[in-house]
Amino acid sequence: MIFPISPAYTIRGRIPLPGDKSISHRALMLGAIAEGETRIRGLAPGEDVRSTLNCLRQLGVSIQEQNGEIILHGRGLAGLQKPAGILDAGNSGTTMRLLAGILAAQPFTTAITGDASLCRRPMRRIIEPLTQMGAGITAEQNDCAPLTIRGGKLQGIHYTLPVASAQVKSCILFAGLGADGETIVEEHVPTRDHSERMLRKMGAHISVTSDQYSVISNQYSVTSNSISIRAGELFGNEIEVPGDFSSAAFFIAAALLLSESELIVENVGLNPTRTAFLEIAREMGAAIESTKLKNGSHEPVADLAVRHHPLRGVSVFGKRVPLLIDEIPILAILATQAEGETCIRDAKELRVKESDRIAALAQNLRAMGATVEELPDGLVIAGPTPLHGAEIDSYGDHRIAMAFAVAGLLADAPTTIRGAECADISFPGFFERLGEVCI
Ligand code: S3P
Repeated sequence: MIFPISPAYTIRGRIPLPGDKSISHRALMLGAIAEGETRIRGLAPGEDVRSTLNCLRQLGVSIQEQNGEIILHGRGLAGLQKPAGILDAGNSGTTMRLLAGILAAQPFTTAITGDASLCRRPMRRIIEPLTQMGAGITAEQNDCAPLTIRGGKLQGIHYTLPVASAQVKSCILFAGLGADGETIVEEHVPTRDHSERMLRKMGAHISVTSDQYSVISNQYSVTSNSISIRAGELFGNEIEVPGDFSSAAFFIAAALLLSESELIVENVGLNPTRTAFLEIAREMGAAIESTKLKNGSHEPVADLAVRHHPLRGVSVFGKRVPLLIDEIPILAILATQAEGETCIRDAKELRVKESDRIAALAQNLRAMGATVEELPDGLVIAGPTPLHGAEIDSYGDHRIAMAFAVAGLLADAPTTIRGAECADISFPGFFERLGEVCI
């Protein structure tokens, strides 16, 4: 689908968000291996979470949708059923990598595949630790999916993450739930902690030791974590999924960039391991206030009030990068309108996301007339530059499609986004909602 974006003058109103994608995957997977019933409100409606739901149904989990609530009947730690066919994770790296940890502890062999993008993404990062734990995993060329996972009895391991990845961390922790002895995962670059929070909520024997934990003016400053988990049952629970911060970021950016904008983004998940984009936007000069802060069922939530504000360039590198990894595409759009240079480094993981996001950003930004230098691990963007209407390729990547929809609002002529339907991966209805608040 080619979607046309017309330039807009301002953005006004209130935005409700889809449920958080990362939390939704975890709620479904952990609910599936818990004892008893789990009720989930606000599950993410996108295709990625649908892929997890379909895989779990194929593994024998009974899941009903009733009055906007998901009711899931857990089968216990090793109670999943061998599926009749190959599991399909679609476009979802989180489905494949996290589910692999659970499948490694089941007493049967499963095959799991995905779409062309997912079958190009690196899987050695989960094959290595799961093999050390005793699972038998075979992959296609270059250690990519489809994967065949021979599950069984696992041994706890002590593993230091070689890449900062919450998906890999979660995969090992999920496998550790069914392993003999203690499993310890060390991360020297902290990543999102939704798995740790949900495991704790569901009764897992998990403990986290952090180096230098201090929260200074809302900033997250943990330098490393050691997470330990032991085998033990999980118990079904009630889970309220907050709005997805990564989805909110597109609307926050649009409101910052378009003159006279005033926008309220409702019910945003503000887990501090996800919100570095807010800190960076504030460093760039943004005016964003949070109101109605509450502790949701196990994650902080608030409304955000955003107003248009002139921005200045910023440097983003090091340990902050994993805490805003999914927001870098929209940060790059902000950078085109900021005074001075924005330099994004240490982000080479972006090259192995749903697309090579560094290349996709550089290519599309140039097409719109931005001044951009592509680095092996990031981008340097000089601003402010006027953006021109252009033909944009989403590269089948939802965050590229949505970031350039926002860029299109600022351009001097209409922009078209090729493959815009991929926004449905995380945010069905994104374009309609954007149209509703733009003037
Ligand atoms: C996710 C972790 C991140 C992120 C992805 C979702 C998760 O990936 O980019 O969109 O839910 O754990 P990595 O952990 O591989 O960096």
